[in-house]
Amino acid sequence: MEVKAPKGTMDILPPLSGRWRRVQEKGVRLFRNFGYREIILPIMEHTEIFARSIGESTDIVQKEMFTFRDKGGRSLTLRPEATAGVARAFVEHRLDAAGLPQKLYYQGPMFRHERPQAGRYRQFRQLGVELIGSSQASADAEVVLLCREFFSLLEVETELIINSVGDEACRPAYVDALSDYLRKNKEKLCEDCRRRAVENPLRVLDCKVKDCAAVIGKAPDLEAYLCGACRDHFQEVVSLLQAVGVECRREPRLVRGLDYYTRTVFEFLNPSLGAQNALAAGGRYDNLIEQLGGKATPAVGFSIGMERVMLAEPRLEEEKARGVYVLAIGGEARRQAFVIAQRLREAGVEADLDHLDRSPKAQMREAGREGYPLCVILGEEEMGGGFFTLRDMLRGVQERVPAEELLRAVRRRLEEEGSPEGKD
Ligand code: HAM
Repeated sequence: MEVKAPKGTMDILPPLSGRWRRVQEKGVRLFRNFGYREIILPIMEHTEIFARSIGESTDIVQKEMFTFRDKGGRSLTLRPEATAGVARAFVEHRLDAAGLPQKLYYQGPMFRHERPQAGRYRQFRQLGVELIGSSQASADAEVVLLCREFFSLLEVETELIINSVGDEACRPAYVDALSDYLRKNKEKLCEDCRRRAVENPLRVLDCKVKDCAAVIGKAPDLEAYLCGACRDHFQEVVSLLQAVGVECRREPRLVRGLDYYTRTVFEFLNPSLGAQNALAAGGRYDNLIEQLGGKATPAVGFSIGMERVMLAEPRLEEEKARGVYVLAIGGEARRQAFVIAQRLREAGVEADLDHLDRSPKAQMREAGREGYPLCVILGEEEMGGGFFTLRDMLRGVQERVPAEELLRAVRRRLEEEGSPEGKD
């Protein structure tokens, strides 16, 4: 048996896991600050939900879904993304009755059967938001601003590209024109794009194959086909973003690989990542809720790819222990240390102790290795005299503390150290 995680998945071990947690917590705090509340969804849905939302002829639905039959013969799929699930939950629980807009955020694993490479995995994690129930440009602008704030907070460099893919009033004319153009240039397209050109021409614009890129470069320009309403909406989004200092570049070929988008689409790119350079992406999807059987309800959102954020920002500062290490010298002291460590934890202080019968010297080394700023030392002398020895590990100085004063002294010392929480 091969003892190995499945292809395209990875373990996130300490201390890196601590950094992941902190990044996620920062994101969540920021989302709440903008008025979003968490929605926790199943990681699988009926396959139909994704086929109808993301689109039958997209790469995700055609090639990348982890789909299986349950024992009742139903087709289920591990979610390749969360927007479809949020829309399904919105319809199922009639969230519109709870008042609009609904501002929701989510986090968790997504699954796509893609060829793994740096920044592309089969199981990856997203942090995302959906603002459901507003067609206003301010909703698009808020969502984009929120995503930009996330990257600013983490000091991750990004470039924002944005476009409008129009709506049902203006897009069909563009798709016709594109379709015509692609038919004329069929010979120069890759095999996938020849199929896409017939089934779903817009998807050709996402193709990364070199020969296709040359054809795409000369394709009709979507902007020229936008109707007045879509044009105004887009201008208002960009103008609101400018008003809050968010710079963006219009990318006329940006259409995104999912079919549910209408009007605004955007991506946050990071220049240091290679081919997989989108750290986050999103857009407006005004027809999705209705397509899933709900009332027509406009919506907009984005998802951040956590793995890519961690790749773009690899400052792997160690997560240091923050509390005390209780060091015991001798058998009876070990029993006592077990109790003292628990008392400290009950009082909210992180505490650890030796479980390997190590010598006092080795225990001290372990405390240092784990980065504990304080050590409570408990030996025969201490037990006989009713006191503890408190060692400041950074300065290497020790003091005696009466037993009943221990908690207060520990707290004071830790406060002096300062909480490393804010030092990300
Ligand atoms: P998406 O562009 O498919 O959009 O994915 C969003 C982000 O997830 C990407 O920009 C990337 O950072 C990350 N990502 C996607 N696939 C992978 C992968 N195989 N490995 C690692 N990271 C990946 C969506 O998922 C939409 N639901 C976004 C959205 C929300 N639109 C409206 N609301």
